[in-house]
Amino acid sequence: MTLALDWHLSRALLEWQTELGVTDAILAEPVDRFAAFEARQNARQNAPQNAPSDTRDAPRPARAPASGPVPGPTTGPSDPGPDPVAAAARLAARAPDLASLAESLEAFDLCALRRGARSCVFADGDPRARVMIVGEGPGADEDRQGLPFVGRAGQLLDRMFHAIGLSRRSPDAETALYITNTVPWRPPGNREPTPEELAMLRPFLVRHIELARPDVLVAMGNVACDALLGRRGILKLRGTWTEALGLPVLPMMHPAYLLRNPEAKREAWADLLSLKARLGAPR
Ligand code: URA
Repeated sequence: MTLALDWHLSRALLEWQTELGVTDAILAEPVDRFAAFEARQNARQNAPQNAPSDTRDAPRPARAPASGPVPGPTTGPSDPGPDPVAAAARLAARAPDLASLAESLEAFDLCALRRGARSCVFADGDPRARVMIVGEGPGADEDRQGLPFVGRAGQLLDRMFHAIGLSRRSPDAETALYITNTVPWRPPGNREPTPEELAMLRPFLVRHIELARPDVLVAMGNVACDALLGRRGILKLRGTWTEALGLPVLPMMHPAYLLRNPEAKREAWADLLSLKARLGAPR
């Protein structure tokens, strides 16, 4: 049986979903709801006083998201546009320090994730730290606060590292942590970054690590292992030291996984002890 999806049926379906509690349409591509809101506000302000209340035909103002304009596709099918990975590599390589890298990343407008995010979450902690943690990507709390690992998983991460004497708030570089993610913008609906998004943003991550020059990297979960090692399978990889970008890397289970599987905290503790042993006595 085929169902003709006319206006009335579409509306009935929408109402049914609203009744079920659906509040948002989650798409693979992020929707910039801040820009949409601003556009509606502008349309209202710009509408002539005696215009009919239906603003469907009102001129659409240009989008101007808080973090700068993010153009939509500007090229036709015959023009593939700029290669985003090459563009990212060029920009990242040009950054002489972390502040410039953060600026370049914030201005990088070829990644669609940027459109749906409120913040560009660059890093937290002390860039002089011996240990640099690479997580997956910001969630809702991180997007709101502009800092990595500040939600429930982040609080567990803080407790885990505190147990071996390390903290992102330590004033001493010896016992400090530096924390970043594979992607700086929250993927819609907390989905994993796609392989394309990871590849596009990897040059920024690599440069970030080059500029911070930690003694060791901790790859938190599968996505970080994918970005740093080109491998997944965290339950096998965890706890075994490996190498990436000329640095020792310790893959660990993501704290979000540990929240869902508290029985795995035993192995996570073993990994933390391995990290502590690797760092040895303070230099
Ligand atoms: N999970 C991550 O991997 N990174 C964050 O910043 C927050 C949650």
